[in-house]
Amino acid sequence: MSEKRVIIFDTTLRDGEQAAGGSLNVHEKLEIATQLERLKVDVIEAGFPSSSPGDFEAVNLIAQEVKNCTICALSHAQIEAIDSAWEAVKCAADPRIHVFLSASDIHLLYQLKKSQEEILEIAIVMVARARKYLENVEFSPMDASRTDPEYLYRIIRAVIDAGATTVNIPDTVGYATPAEFGNLIGGIVENVPNIHRAVLSVHCHNDLGLAVANSLEALQRGARQVECTINGIGERAGNASLEEIVMALKTRSDVFHLNTGIDTSQIYKTSRLVSELTCFVVQPNKAIVGSNAFRHESGIHQDGVIKKAITYEIMDPRDVGIPANSLVMGKLSGRHAFRERLAELGYSLDDEALTRAFGAFKELADKKKEVTDRDLESLVAQERRTQSEVYHLDHIEVLCGEPCIPTATVRLVAPDGEIYADAALGTGPVDAVYKAINRIIGIPNKLTEFTVKSVTEGIDAIGEVIIRIECDGVTYTGRGASTDIIVASARACLNALNRLLIAQKVDSP
Ligand code: KIV
Ligand code: ZN
Repeated sequence: MSEKRVIIFDTTLRDGEQAAGGSLNVHEKLEIATQLERLKVDVIEAGFPSSSPGDFEAVNLIAQEVKNCTICALSHAQIEAIDSAWEAVKCAADPRIHVFLSASDIHLLYQLKKSQEEILEIAIVMVARARKYLENVEFSPMDASRTDPEYLYRIIRAVIDAGATTVNIPDTVGYATPAEFGNLIGGIVENVPNIHRAVLSVHCHNDLGLAVANSLEALQRGARQVECTINGIGERAGNASLEEIVMALKTRSDVFHLNTGIDTSQIYKTSRLVSELTCFVVQPNKAIVGSNAFRHESGIHQDGVIKKAITYEIMDPRDVGIPANSLVMGKLSGRHAFRERLAELGYSLDDEALTRAFGAFKELADKKKEVTDRDLESLVAQERRTQSEVYHLDHIEVLCGEPCIPTATVRLVAPDGEIYADAALGTGPVDAVYKAINRIIGIPNKLTEFTVKSVTEGIDAIGEVIIRIECDGVTYTGRGASTDIIVASARACLNALNRLLIAQKVDSP
């Protein structure tokens, strides 16, 4: 049977970024978009331009820079929002506007307070408005899985007549089951007479853990675009995970007979980048990209895999870009070997960044006998964070113990080179460090989350700290790594504050 092509629509930068506490700055969004281009996704939903000046700027920048994917801007069904989406995306090589409007009785009755006929009319007018600007227009009847199917058929037919080229069916609240959702898609294919004039798409949320199953079922029933995110991040429990859908289609092509244009060897790297920049940790048992996804603990399994991988491995980890061997480096490893290993892991640093990263590696190798790939990834990530700093942590000193009043002294370098130092007392050393840093930066904020984990096993492991802070109702994440967890905490705090400073600069008109 010949295989049919599925369009991969990535919404990591829009729905994924909407996840609580995942806010990314413009540069980080561009970095992710560039990696999504390498992954060869077909469509990047780059953001929601009318929602904030920062989102507008990010969509516009991505539209300028990323030329090998369709760049899509989300818009609610309002003239000004559609105009703003067009302004942001019009410089793309292949722009798309995605208009959404609630369709279910629940939303119409309680949220929009409009009748079905009124909604139908607005949908037609808004799709036509977007079509005034461009040919590539997507329409989503929001909460479609809880919408009366007969009404859904009418609205889909009407928006296709008005010019929609893709019609997306969202399971907005993750309520559908695979059989139900498959039947909904099958019903649309059968009952919407002009459906062949548009691409049928699906967009599933994971509230019941069914987003990937629902998406795959929909693809089997005729959908040809699937909306998904890296690591499955997104509103609430997230969206369907891109890597799971793509690898299911590839591994079980005998069942699906569908293919994608994705370069699967870029999956692991993309997953790490998104986790790093959003500060959403990938759970160890996460399918495809979790640290345990290809790790065999049971003796019987290990024995089988050594004899023949296929005994217990249904996928080759190299197919998703997980480095083949976990080569261990140490203090005798030179710059050349360091550069080579980074290249094998998919990183290419310019000379200056490589010199700094190599210096950090040597320092680490002095403290830690064996430097693993995960240590190197953490090191490169720390290097990346340092590059985009506003304030830089120059010096930190902590006094703690029992009995003792924890005290921290920190020195920061401002963007203009000015040096600021301050000290503070705290309930513990981390509290004291945070207070001292906050005294210098001077922007009121609340620490809402603080987690520490070690990157690898062992007492000499690198510690990674992730924090979330809140300022004016917006959450900013920060990450820091070091073999000293107090230093890692200080770096995470400064990373979050630097993001806040960058965001406030962009969002202030
Ligand atoms: O979940 C949803 O319904 C959405 C729409 C904007 C497509 O994200
Ligand atoms: Zn969504």
